[in-house]
Amino acid sequence: MGRKEDFFAHIEEGYKTKGDFIAMGAAMLDGEAVTNALVKIPLKTLNRHGLIAGATGTGKTKTLQVLAENLSDKGIPVLLMDLKGDLSGLAQPSPGHPKIDERHQKIGFPFTAKKFPVEILSLSEQDGVKLRATVSEFGPVLLSRILDLSDTQEGIVAVIFKYCDDHKLPLLDLKDFKKVLQYATGEGKKEFEESYGRIATSSTGAILRKVIELEQQGADLFFGEKSFDVNDLTRIDEEGRGMISIIRLTDIQDRPKLFSTFMLSLLAEVYATFPEQGDSDRPELILFIDEAHLIFKEASKALLDQIESIVKLIRSKGIGLYFVTQNPTDVPDAVLAQLGLKVQHALRAFTAKDRKAIKLTAENYPISEYYDTKEVLTSLGIGEALISALDEKGRPTPLAATLLRAPMSRMDVLTAKELEEVIDNSRLIPKYNETIDRESAYEILNEKIEKAEAKAKKDEEEEKATSRTTSSRSRRSSSRQNPVVKVLTSATFIRGVLGILRKAMK
Ligand SMILES: Nc1ncnc2c1ncn2[C@@H]1O[C@H](COP(=O)(O)OP(=O)(O)OP(=O)(O)O)[C@@H](O)[C@H]1O
Ligand SMILES: [Mg+2]
Repeated sequence: MGRKEDFFAHIEEGYKTKGDFIAMGAAMLDGEAVTNALVKIPLKTLNRHGLIAGATGTGKTKTLQVLAENLSDKGIPVLLMDLKGDLSGLAQPSPGHPKIDERHQKIGFPFTAKKFPVEILSLSEQDGVKLRATVSEFGPVLLSRILDLSDTQEGIVAVIFKYCDDHKLPLLDLKDFKKVLQYATGEGKKEFEESYGRIATSSTGAILRKVIELEQQGADLFFGEKSFDVNDLTRIDEEGRGMISIIRLTDIQDRPKLFSTFMLSLLAEVYATFPEQGDSDRPELILFIDEAHLIFKEASKALLDQIESIVKLIRSKGIGLYFVTQNPTDVPDAVLAQLGLKVQHALRAFTAKDRKAIKLTAENYPISEYYDTKEVLTSLGIGEALISALDEKGRPTPLAATLLRAPMSRMDVLTAKELEEVIDNSRLIPKYNETIDRESAYEILNEKIEKAEAKAKKDEEEEKATSRTTSSRSRRSSSRQNPVVKVLTSATFIRGVLGILRKAMK
């Protein structure tokens, strides 16, 4: 056998699947596609997470598009974080192009143009289904992580949640949370001290400042009702295709804190809601995070630890996470180590730092007798990538430089009119986009304060009238427990999804 035949057999054997799969394209030898040497990703291993990396303009977003549409085609719902606004084209068929036909001829299967069922979601004022969560649902642990609080401050947040639990005060938005925080060291100081111990004004002040900082990144739009039910992400359309939910995040690039808040809450919610999968032959939902360096860039150590554990645990729920970023080194090692599929587009060697990154990246791929990985990494063309996946038994597949298939849907964005059409046809907008202003902690506490003030005035008048000289009643006060310890040791009080996570990991 010649080298090419050997290579063909090597790829065919290495990418053999019994179950259903997605064909990504054809493996390349010496820079040329070997027709029908298909690089196939088994659906069964898609919950093992992945990475799409490569220099700017090399085809990362199109690879994401290809994966998303093929998943949808197989009846698997997809959630996309669209940070550049270049994914809406999924809702329209590709107009086709002679170059695309040529590409597919080399790969070995014909090109078909198709459109996909798309739902547009939004975290901000932009059009689309509004994504929101209440502060109560968010929980004290996650809120403290996002605010980057000290242990003492975290204890106070736990007390605030406990107080609201005990007094049936709904914490819907940040306005509610701020109100209770102020109440704890203001009008409600006595009440708090009696039940939970002393809380320092300096601490609540510090927490308050951090909440305001979060609000300045637009988080007040995210916290509130009606909270989004993650089960709405797993819809299948009438033709059996998985829904592609696109979260438009074009206005979030300069607000990394809001982005990581949102991502973590979403992952935690998905983790808490979805049932254990066991050994399934297909994933339940696949999430793609484009420009993923943004979640890692400003994350604290505590937050990174949380992300790392979610990535680890969420797999068992049939959820696959795919990070899209320019350089694999943008993703922390602990996360990188858990990724099953790697699609590495070309890297550019401009600087010494670039060359170092290329060397590191190459070392992370399986050795191949057919490639000099370092050399391939810098010579891949647009819409070509080095792929390493997991086979159905979870073993790494052979390294394959791959000529990737083209997206079936449009590579360009929707026009304003087309976008409007998608939004008009949304089944979720009527469910989520009405503004609700339910009575919550803010209103209830205000009312309570007003009543207390009225009563205090009356008492004062009565006291003046009787002017007795009895000594003040001795109040129990001595051996009160530290509020933090008290709340955190109460077994019933493990709130917030990350509380659940923490428990699961013990
Ligand atoms: N699989 C493909 N089939 C056909 N054309 C492709 C493919 N992948 C990429 N291209 C071409 O390359 C262009 C750039 O691709 P893409 O936008 O995916 O790059 P990118 O890596 O996401 O860039 P950036 O870092 O700027 O976001 C596309 O507009 C398209 O013309
Ligand atoms: Mg891109």
